[in-house]
Amino acid sequence: MDLQQSELLPTGTGLITEPLVKSECLAHHNDVIVEGLVQQGWVAIPNYLDPELCDELRMEMLRYHEQNRFQKAGIGRIDERHRNEKIRRDKIYWLEGSTSAQRTYLDLMADLRQHINRELFLGLFDLEAHYAVYEPGDFYRKHLDAFRGRSSRVVTVVSYFNPQWLEEDGGLLNIYDSDDRALVSQIMPLAGTLVCFLSEKILHEVTPTAQLRCSIAGWFRHNGSTGELVDPPA
Ligand code: OGA
Ligand code: MN
Repeated sequence: MDLQQSELLPTGTGLITEPLVKSECLAHHNDVIVEGLVQQGWVAIPNYLDPELCDELRMEMLRYHEQNRFQKAGIGRIDERHRNEKIRRDKIYWLEGSTSAQRTYLDLMADLRQHINRELFLGLFDLEAHYAVYEPGDFYRKHLDAFRGRSSRVVTVVSYFNPQWLEEDGGLLNIYDSDDRALVSQIMPLAGTLVCFLSEKILHEVTPTAQLRCSIAGWFRHNGSTGELVDPPA
């Protein structure tokens, strides 16, 4: 196209010559997350994570799972096995940033945490996060991730690592409205999708899965330490 033609183009035609670079994309996504948290208490962003990072994390997860490094998930400090298995059936592995894929993920989450703090003054202090694998038949019944005044979990972030998923595979994340508790969204655990919500406010559940389902669940926390007491206790 020569200069004359381009001069004739009205502004705002939507012609974009340069694709958005990655960091602009992330900054935009982080803005959408803040907006979602403010407006409705939750938000889902497809393609938040790069496909290459998703592949790396998924392969690591599957390897650790095969090596039996995952443990049965519990439901808090007062844990009782029988009751627990009726509520959740996933297996987990706590992230410590011991591989470069984990560190890349944790760095992305640190950026998101700082962005939320800058915009919403939530004073989020750190992230605790684990890999989660749901085998066929596994589920997590309707629950909140935090109880008012009793937990330092403020914002939940879940991301998914499954390259293909169909509705009939189940394993959906159901989100319930924080006011009337109606079902408002069903999210497929597709690779790259990130879901973020207020831990104390948003009821959610994972429906029984028919396929192996890989995710990372994490929580941005307040600093619950007081004086000599450390939260959580070692
Ligand atoms: C959780 C949880 C949701 C999901 O681990 O607390 O609700 O979609 N996970 O994996
Ligand atoms: Mn949860």
